[in-house]
Amino acid sequence: MKIAVVGWGYVGAATGLGLKDHHEIIAYDPYKLTALYSMNILRELPAMSELVKIKQVYDISDLREAELIFVCLPTPTTENGVDTSYIDKILDDLNQKLDKGIIVIRSTTPPGTIKKYQEKYPKFQFVHNPEFLRERTPVSDFLNPDRIVIGGTHDDAIKKVMDVYKLFDCQKCVTDTTTSEMIKYASNIFLANKISFFNEIHNVCKVVGADHKKLADVVALDRRIGHYGVNGGKPYGGSCLPKDTDGFIHFVENHLKHELHLIKATKKVNDEMKKHEEGEKRE
Ligand SMILES: NC(=O)c1ccc[n+]([C@@H]2O[C@H](COP(=O)([O-])OP(=O)(O)OC[C@H]3O[C@@H](n4cnc5c(N)ncnc54)[C@H](O)[C@@H]3O)[C@@H](O)[C@H]2O)c1
Repeated sequence: MKIAVVGWGYVGAATGLGLKDHHEIIAYDPYKLTALYSMNILRELPAMSELVKIKQVYDISDLREAELIFVCLPTPTTENGVDTSYIDKILDDLNQKLDKGIIVIRSTTPPGTIKKYQEKYPKFQFVHNPEFLRERTPVSDFLNPDRIVIGGTHDDAIKKVMDVYKLFDCQKCVTDTTTSEMIKYASNIFLANKISFFNEIHNVCKVVGADHKKLADVVALDRRIGHYGVNGGKPYGGSCLPKDTDGFIHFVENHLKHELHLIKATKKVNDEMKKHEEGEKRE
């Protein structure tokens, strides 16, 4: 299948490189892929020569030939909430140049965003296919997911995306787009929440003189709990957990006017851990 990938950061590069052996990939990014490679974003790629298998285009009209257009653009959280302007802009550009197409948004977007895009651009068929990779191992995480989430309402578009992933040995979960958007936030915020929970336990261990390391090892043996996030003593970081926790709080409280309790506490514990960590570094 001819697949266009818009945005060659962590998610776009992992998607393009992960699919290149079975599909024809067209890359669209203002930066040359070779430049991104030397910036180390594509660091999991075994050799730069692999990039020659990928055709890069700079004119949006060239995406017309793609059967699917995967959009992997940033959605940063700012003081005004989640900024979807990168996606808004590319959709306006695609709308001007293309008469139809299947647009697969891989970015993390606030619940309801894709539904609004579908209403605004009825000539396109939208699918939401959130990504769950880690930045340390983008390509191998993309190729070995725990599950693949496909949100959409057009059966033929969903089927095409299913086809792309037919060789992936994991459960494929089909939902509507608002549910797939919520699944992405719920997954990231749960991980943030778990880290904050064990940071709080870590702090109490220090007060009572308990061995937190031992506690973490033993608690993790419960298969319902597992090893992720139990070690304590460090705030959650990276580019996604803080961004998505903050973005979700902003969206739910300011946009939906719905009060959150636990998720705000997750952020509060993390902010205190960060202050503590910075204080320790200064000493
Ligand atoms: N980084 C992660 O670990 C991760 C994991 C899962 C989901 N996500 C989500 O995926 C989305 C993308 O994140 P990322 O980390 O891959 O972003 P990134 O910042 O690494 O990369 C974005 C890429 O988009 C390109 N770009 C910017 N404007 C463009 C335009 N108009 N046309 C074409 N390309 C353009 C940039 O040059 C860059 O290469 C975000 O919504 C993020 O929340 C990220």
